[in-house]
Amino acid sequence: MRKFFQSLLGRPSAPQRLQVLPQGVTVDIAPGQTLLEAALTNGIAYPHDCTVGTCASCKSHLKQGRVREATPFGYTLSKLELDAGFILACQAFPRDELTIIEVSPQSADMPPAERFVGTITSTTPLTHDIVKVCVRTDRPVHYVAGQYASITAEGLPRARHYSFADAPQREGRKELTFFIRKVPGGGFTEALFKGELTGQPLIVNAPHGHFHLRPGNAPMVCVVGGSGLAPLLSVLEHARRIRIKRPCVVLFGARTQADLYMVDALQAIGAAWLDAFTFVPVLSHEPADSDWTGARGMVTDHLSTAASGIDWAVAEAYMCGPPPMIDAAISRLVDAGMPLASIFYDKFTDGKDAP
Ligand code: FES
Repeated sequence: MRKFFQSLLGRPSAPQRLQVLPQGVTVDIAPGQTLLEAALTNGIAYPHDCTVGTCASCKSHLKQGRVREATPFGYTLSKLELDAGFILACQAFPRDELTIIEVSPQSADMPPAERFVGTITSTTPLTHDIVKVCVRTDRPVHYVAGQYASITAEGLPRARHYSFADAPQREGRKELTFFIRKVPGGGFTEALFKGELTGQPLIVNAPHGHFHLRPGNAPMVCVVGGSGLAPLLSVLEHARRIRIKRPCVVLFGARTQADLYMVDALQAIGAAWLDAFTFVPVLSHEPADSDWTGARGMVTDHLSTAASGIDWAVAEAYMCGPPPMIDAAISRLVDAGMPLASIFYDKFTDGKDAP
C-alpha cells in the first residue's frame, strides 16, 4: 500500500542515487536534495554558479531517470537543449531510484571566487546608454576570459553581475573594466553616467561563470548583442594574445549606428588575428535613409552568409547577449549542422540580478 501511494506521489521507496558521468561516480541523494546539492555534498566538483537556475553553469545531460523541476528549465535552456535532454542540476529533484547525468567537461581551470574591495577610477560613456567603468581592486583578481564579477555598492539595491571586458593577465588584474548599461530610473547607473561615482567603493566578488574559450583549432562563430560585448571582447583579446590560429567570424547586433561601440577594439583584434577574421556589424533599427551601407535586420539572419566558408560540423559558437537572440542563434546554428555541444553562450539581461 505504501508503495502504491509513493508511486502516486512519484517517490520511489528505495534510497535515491545519482551517478555522474563521465567519472562514473555514484552517490546517495538525501531527501529534498537537488542533483547539484547531492553532488556537492558528496565531494563532486560539479560546475555551478547561481544555484537558482539562471546561469546554466550546471547544465547537464540527463542519461537515465526522470526529474522534477524546481523552476522550469526552459527559463534558461533553449527548446533545442530541452529536447536534447539537457537539464539544470541545481533545479532538478530526482523522481527515480537512479538518476544518471553527464556534465560537460570543463576545459578551463576556474579560479575560486574571492571578495575584493574596489574603487571606481573612471567612467566613460561608450554609447548613449552604455558606460565603460574602470575599477581598481585592493589586490589582483584572477579570472578566465569570459567570466564575470558580482558587484555590490552603495545605491545598488542588489548585487549585479558584470562581465570582465579585458583579457586576464597571468599575474592577475587590479585594473578591471566593465561595460554597464544605464537602467532607466536606476540611481546607481544614472550616477555612473553623470560621472558622479569616481572614487566610490565597491565590493567585487569574483570570478564567476563558465563561459570561456575551448582549446583546439575549431573555427569560431561569435554572436554578440547589446551590452553583451564585454565577455566576448575579453575572450577574443585573450585568444589574440595567446596567438591562436583559428578562422573567426564575429557578428555584432545593435539597434543603430549610435549603439555600436568598441568597434575599433574589435577591428584591432581582427587586424592582429593569425587566421581569417570577419567582423559583421548588423543594425536592426537603423533609419532606412541613413548613410549605413552595412548589414541590416536581425543579427541571426546574417549567420549563414557571414560564416559561409565555415564548416558547421566542426566549428564552435561563442555567443553573449539577451535570451531571445541566443535562442534564435542556437536554432539557426543547429539547423546549419552545428552540434549543440559546440555551442557556448552567456545568456543575460542587462545588469542581471545576482541571486
Ligand atoms: S548553477 Fe544551475 S543554473 Fe546556475
